[in-house]
Amino acid sequence: MDALYKQLKYELENNNIKKLESVFIGGGTPSCVDTKYYKPIFDLLKDYIDDSIEITTEANPNSATFEWLQNMYAYGVNRVSFGVQSFDNEKLEFLARNHNKNHAIDAVMNAQKIGFERINCDIIYDTFVDTKALINNDLEVIKTLPIDHISVYSLTLEEGTKFYNKSEVKVEDEDMARHIFEKLTDFGFKQYEISNFAKDKNSQCKHNIGYWKYENYLGIGSGAVGCFDNKRTYTNKDVQKYIVNPIEYESIENLSDDDILIEKTLLGLRSTIGCDLNLYNNTQLEKIKILEENKKILIKDFRFYSYDFMLADEVSLFIVDDI
Ligand SMILES: C[S@@+](CC[C@H](N)C(=O)[O-])C[C@H]1O[C@@H](n2cnc3c(N)ncnc32)[C@H](O)[C@@H]1O
Repeated sequence: MDALYKQLKYELENNNIKKLESVFIGGGTPSCVDTKYYKPIFDLLKDYIDDSIEITTEANPNSATFEWLQNMYAYGVNRVSFGVQSFDNEKLEFLARNHNKNHAIDAVMNAQKIGFERINCDIIYDTFVDTKALINNDLEVIKTLPIDHISVYSLTLEEGTKFYNKSEVKVEDEDMARHIFEKLTDFGFKQYEISNFAKDKNSQCKHNIGYWKYENYLGIGSGAVGCFDNKRTYTNKDVQKYIVNPIEYESIENLSDDDILIEKTLLGLRSTIGCDLNLYNNTQLEKIKILEENKKILIKDFRFYSYDFMLADEVSLFIVDDI
């Protein structure tokens, strides 16, 4: 946390930051860290934030105690995102999570009691133990909770993680995904990105929208990634090396115009942000026209948008595959 403070101070000064638009404390699991260690960081941020900005913290139900949530709220955190994954105890055991259904519900209710009006739950689907009944039970619990945002992630098996190369862990089920999306929409959540649903525009996560709009962001902490003026910075993933020198990057990536166009297309079509027609060359514009004629995209006010987020990656790659 001292090293993180040093890097934050350096990045704010080095990039001549005047004001921040959003802060997102994520990871990893922020609720594993005692709140006293966040105080210097919030003291430093005071000069860069005002009451209107969105400050989110991620938290796991087992470690986000009432006191931890209360202290973070007192620091000015006004949005909490719980790593719930499911409200089914067998599924939570299958995913090797250290919380159960009641921990998750208690965490959400505690956050509401403390005063959080903006509460998100993360849910994972496409697991081997998923059944329509299990998913429907999870959705019924979600319907009863005072949350204004829900993120639903298809389980990905990352190299170097416990589940990698294990069979009988992940089952891709597009019908189940569409069923989840429909049900959440029935509950009054509006999908604004392939994995993200919000009760209304004010409940959308401004921080994530900043990423998807390709705005500058600072990445602070070991293993964090920042992107400023099309230069992506990767800090040291090795925590000990990071502590020794937190302002030394592990690597820097200068994004080419092609990199940026590919990323903007993917991010724009995976969300309601869409893509600016002016960015594309004639060959790409011809493909965009074909996609519009085939009702794969909608063109409006010199921007184009997905009809179906589930097709966003394929549609994007079709447009930019000449790069
Ligand atoms: C950035 S992670 C934060 C880590 C979180 N504290 C945890 O313990 O998983 C935010 C969310 O990503 C999702 N997530 C984590 N691992 C995932 C995976 N392998 N596949 C899909 N989603 C995942 C979970 O829903 C998690 O709550």
